[in-house]
Amino acid sequence: MTTKLTWLGHGSWSIETTGQKILLDPFFSDSPTSPIKVDQAMADFILVSHGHFDYVADAAVIAKRTGATVVAIYEICDWLSRVHGVEKTEPMNLGGSIQLPFGRVKMTPALHSSTLPDGASGGNPGGFLLTLSTARIYFACDTALFSDMKLHAAGVDLAVLPIGDRYTMGPDDALEAVKLIQPKRVIPSHYNTWPPIEQNAQAWADRVRRATSAEPIVLQPGESATL
Ligand code: NI
Repeated sequence: MTTKLTWLGHGSWSIETTGQKILLDPFFSDSPTSPIKVDQAMADFILVSHGHFDYVADAAVIAKRTGATVVAIYEICDWLSRVHGVEKTEPMNLGGSIQLPFGRVKMTPALHSSTLPDGASGGNPGGFLLTLSTARIYFACDTALFSDMKLHAAGVDLAVLPIGDRYTMGPDDALEAVKLIQPKRVIPSHYNTWPPIEQNAQAWADRVRRATSAEPIVLQPGESATL
């Protein structure tokens, strides 16, 4: 049994494990780097970390077409149900965990903002810690660096960290996050979607290799890593 993790550009990920397909923060319609179209996306579960347009825009469309269950903070689940008619949701909140068919999902804090596209409150932004049969994976999602990352994700098999800067951690703080978390492997995310968040991921990976014992993996949109 393996877990296949595919970068779908920006902060979007596909996770295939135990016969289930999970999308994290799907952003395809308006993403210049998405390798797939929104009508090609398949999912059993959709995890949404916060309420920004680049994170919720396609979640409702995909959930309604596929019948996928949306996992998000209470406010976002409520908004997706009320405003977009999404039928299946698993509302949760920071610090809580739920058991799903593919593994355990814990919502971790993130330092960011979370207003929904129509101005409604998206509650607090979060990240996700997934405990799967093959691996523990920490998705920091959109966030600044904070020292409690160590409490939430120490020693995970894989950390997925933003490096884009401006709206999230940049390369320097993401390197500090690797030192705090000490993951076995680390994959950079949330960069090169648009010029304001352009970064040299290979240069960052070289710094990670020199300064930590984590193995950095740099993917192109559409490429996968196996755990
Ligand atoms: Ni955001």
